Amino acid sequence: MSGSQGLDTLRDSPTGSGAPAAVGVLGGGRMGAGIAHAFLLAGSRVTIVERDADAAAAAAQRVLASVEASVVRGTADEDAAAYAARFATSTDVADFANCELVVEAVPEDLELKIDALTRVERVLAPAAALASNTSSISIDQLATLLDRPSRFVGMHFFNPVPASTLVEVVRGEASDPKLVDEARGWVRAIGKTPIVVADAPGFASSRLGVMLGLEAIRMLEEGVASAEDIDAAMTLGYKHPVGPLKLTDLVGLDVRLGIAEYLAQTLGERFAPPALLRRMVAEGRLGRKSGEGFYQWDAS
Ligand SMILES: NC(=O)c1ccc[n+]([C@@H]2O[C@H](COP(=O)([O-])OP(=O)(O)OC[C@H]3O[C@@H](n4cnc5c(N)ncnc54)[C@H](O)[C@@H]3O)[C@@H](O)[C@H]2O)c1
Repeated sequence: MSGSQGLDTLRDSPTGSGAPAAVGVLGGGRMGAGIAHAFLLAGSRVTIVERDADAAAAAAQRVLASVEASVVRGTADEDAAAYAARFATSTDVADFANCELVVEAVPEDLELKIDALTRVERVLAPAAALASNTSSISIDQLATLLDRPSRFVGMHFFNPVPASTLVEVVRGEASDPKLVDEARGWVRAIGKTPIVVADAPGFASSRLGVMLGLEAIRMLEEGVASAEDIDAAMTLGYKHPVGPLKLTDLVGLDVRLGIAEYLAQTLGERFAPPALLRRMVAEGRLGRKSGEGFYQWDAS
């Protein structure tokens, strides 16, 4: 991608949906590809920057396959070629220079993210927005080395992005309230619903979801009911689409254990991981990805 348009020029060619005209996504893995898909369908031009050429090619394949699937399902307005024409991949963050918004979606590692965000910020126009899709790291901590923390916010998407309707907009201490409003607008423009949360550990979704999962594991440990019956209490009794133990299997017991440890450190002992969770992780019973967790899963 090339060109030296300023943001004003880009805003003169609006998407019609309210989505930014040009969006960058750093890291085109599971989440980054989904985020790219969402903005492409809303009319944005999207550039993914990956760490090397192979990863960039893999990201392109993921995005184009999911766009194609939306076209086939009839949930996209344009044909696949029109989306492909607005999509590019690169290995150079300089290609984000014209973006109004860049969403960072590299792995959940504090130092990696801080380094990536500072490199991206350097190439952006001062008015451009920078967002992180972190699922657990503090937005204020990520902003430590940024020159313009007022233009930085959390945008926590859910997996799989195309099928998920919630985005948590995480307001850092320094995030400009105008940016928080813009971010809410962009979330609506891609057909999802924003909620605004303060930069508190676990934001709103993980804090509540993990608490329910941990209590379900403690109930199983204490013999209160079987895994199936604990899950049915929530699916049938409270109309949750999936029970807390099955959800823990889907997310991965190791992932949930990591979040619980972090929440126990930051919010207190009420998030202390149950012994059963630790034991299952130590035994490699990680849920769907390992074939066994609270349920048996077909390994294919
Ligand atoms: N997977 C989920 O369910 C989920 C849900 C919400 C949020 N998140 C968060 O989203 C982020 C990404 O998670 P994911 O599941 O997509 O991970 P992933 O491993 O699928 O993707 C990460 C991508 O980043 C790329 N990458 C690594 N270093 C890079 C660099 N320096 N520059 C550019 N690209 C680089 C990798 O090549 C990879 O394609 C994490 O912060 C994670 O916590 C994940």
